[in-house]
Amino acid sequence: MLFSDLKLNDKEPIYIQIKNYIDIMINKGLIPNNSKLPSTRELSQFLNVSRNSIISAYEELKADGTIYSVSGKGTFVNHKNTTLNNSWNIDFESFENEYSKIANEMDIVKSEIPWRSDLISFKSISPNGDLFDIDELKKSFLNRIALEGHKILNYGYAQGYKPLIDYLLSYMNTKGVDTTNKDILITNGFTEGLDLLLSSFTEKGDYIICENPTHNTAIKIFKSLGLNIVGIDINKDGLDFKMLEEKLDSLKNEKNIKIKFAYITPSYHNPTGTVMSPEDRYKFYNLMKKHNIAIIEDGFNEELLYSSSHIFPIASLDNLNNGVIYIGSFSKILFPGLRIGWILCDKKVISRLESVKRCKSIHVSFLDQAILYDYLSNGAFDKYVKKIKKFYGDKFNFTYDCVKKYIPNDYVLGEGGLHIFIKLKNIDSRKLLNKCYEKGVIFMPGDIFYTDDKGKDTLRLGISRLSLEDIEKGIKIIGDSIKELS
Ligand SMILES: Cc1ncc(COP(=O)(O)O)c(C=O)c1O
Repeated sequence: MLFSDLKLNDKEPIYIQIKNYIDIMINKGLIPNNSKLPSTRELSQFLNVSRNSIISAYEELKADGTIYSVSGKGTFVNHKNTTLNNSWNIDFESFENEYSKIANEMDIVKSEIPWRSDLISFKSISPNGDLFDIDELKKSFLNRIALEGHKILNYGYAQGYKPLIDYLLSYMNTKGVDTTNKDILITNGFTEGLDLLLSSFTEKGDYIICENPTHNTAIKIFKSLGLNIVGIDINKDGLDFKMLEEKLDSLKNEKNIKIKFAYITPSYHNPTGTVMSPEDRYKFYNLMKKHNIAIIEDGFNEELLYSSSHIFPIASLDNLNNGVIYIGSFSKILFPGLRIGWILCDKKVISRLESVKRCKSIHVSFLDQAILYDYLSNGAFDKYVKKIKKFYGDKFNFTYDCVKKYIPNDYVLGEGGLHIFIKLKNIDSRKLLNKCYEKGVIFMPGDIFYTDDKGKDTLRLGISRLSLEDIEKGIKIIGDSIKELS
């Protein structure tokens, strides 16, 4: 311990000995830069010397610039004035693996256009925080802490908080999914669910099918795990089944390639906003079954269905089979900050994933899961979903009309959700973005959602957090800028 080896003698003044001792310790690097020194009272008691000796020692060190005081906070070390030669620079770039390199290269947040408070931003598809039911959530928090604070603040189980798992199993039953032989793992949102699944059940070089365009984070996960991506176009009529069948046949017959997984978002697909018809869901399911390809169904936005009546998830077609892995999330239909999602699939698969989850991060916060369970089971969730469906539904319809009125386009996709997708007529959406930025409007260029180099003339408008006035104003600016570029 610092100062315990300081042996004071009676030949030199005490304050000089203390000053020299601190100087030596700093020069040896044993007292870190900006670390706090004991108060003069504490040190005088510890060394059993007068407080004035300590004050004088500190004054001398301050005069040399070796330490400094911050009023009300204390006295701190200042290395700048020492001759420490302790520089050490590890070349971490040379340690970096492929996973980190790809994740870093594809991190669109790092290359974003700089934020300005006056911008009309159509970039985000996060929910509108003004709608959050904070009072109800507060009640759930207080309720759970009072009822079982001693349990939920301790370590929990990797699979998740049992009441939440049971709630979600019966919730999935209400969507028509047979949960016999199936189980649930609670995850840190959809993203962790997809990553856990693919990092446990694929090897570098495996093949995965997905819609093209698709969720940018999913592409990032596929690429960082070294998977080969087979993108199937979504065009103005939805998924291109002809292309899908041709690709399946050619990969199997000509190249003898086995595809392991197919990732699909049938409701309010990101970025196109399309909802797959019941007929197409059957067709897709049967095709994957025929080719023995496991389906990963992303149900992230399913609850927002407002322009059409309820459509069953693909998982509901699987009955007692194990061909569909459903990943749900509360990020868009409730609060993304909670970071809670779930995987529903075959019990044996969940058991494997449970071990992987325990190995990687032990479990999702039990406090958060318990609060969410309380909120879901006391009826607050149902009321909230009704409210947001109406809010986002009205906003979507308004946006759709504005886009049709002001933006010259090849076609517009979207049936609801928090966004709308536009295919332009031979206009580069990155050039358009630069032009719009000058006029205070930004959006998501569509190319980031493509698995190949397509989509340069597409864009996604996220509308959840904008007022109707800003939506109309922003869309007019985009339309005018297109005319200038044409
Ligand atoms: C297609 C899709 N799936 C899932 C999610 C939700 O991911 P998470 O639950 O990790 O926030 C999003 C969010 O934007 C998404 O676009």
